[in-house]
Amino acid sequence: MNEPTYAIDQMISAKAIAARVEALAREIAAEYAGTDKLVVVGLLRGSFVFIADLVRELDLPVEVDFLEASSYGDAMESSREVRILKDLRGKIEGRDVLVVEDIVDTGHTLSHVTRYLSTRKPAKLRTIALLDKPSRREVDFKADWIGFSIPDEFVVGYGIDYAQRNRNLPFIGKVRFT
Ligand code: IMP
Ligand code: MG
Repeated sequence: MNEPTYAIDQMISAKAIAARVEALAREIAAEYAGTDKLVVVGLLRGSFVFIADLVRELDLPVEVDFLEASSYGDAMESSREVRILKDLRGKIEGRDVLVVEDIVDTGHTLSHVTRYLSTRKPAKLRTIALLDKPSRREVDFKADWIGFSIPDEFVVGYGIDYAQRNRNLPFIGKVRFT
């Protein structure tokens, strides 16, 4: 068996997350009030728990779609490149769109994804991230809504993984190597 060589210390409880998601949903519903249908776009895979809880708190007609982006460091360049691995199934031209991400870290992923989706001319495009690590930013990017701002720690749980583990934890925990 491959036992993990790390421990997980709780950082944000399931209860605190639920309360924050409820408050965010109210702000989002106010921002998109009157929309005929909001397209909620989850970035795979880390946002799957967050988007599931968020849409159930949203008092708006919604449609759910997913996009998968992959970022990787290019050894030959100092800049980061983001690739779209799985695109949306639906059209977003003229639609109200909310992009849902787990964490804004360097900022490369969400800034690339919002520029990419903007070219399709959505009526209104906004972003929400459950977590933000402002001290890690490499590009100027700010999500429209943030659940929690956290220090530079590696976190797991509530959909977020470490090498594909721990996505099923109901809380956000920080990884401590043992
Ligand atoms: P960035 O903002 O382009 O650097 O990338 C953000 C992505 O990096 C997130 O969607 C996560 O997939 C991943 N990421 C950043 N910080 C963490 C972490 O603490 N735990 C797990 N994944 C992370
Ligand atoms: Mg991610």
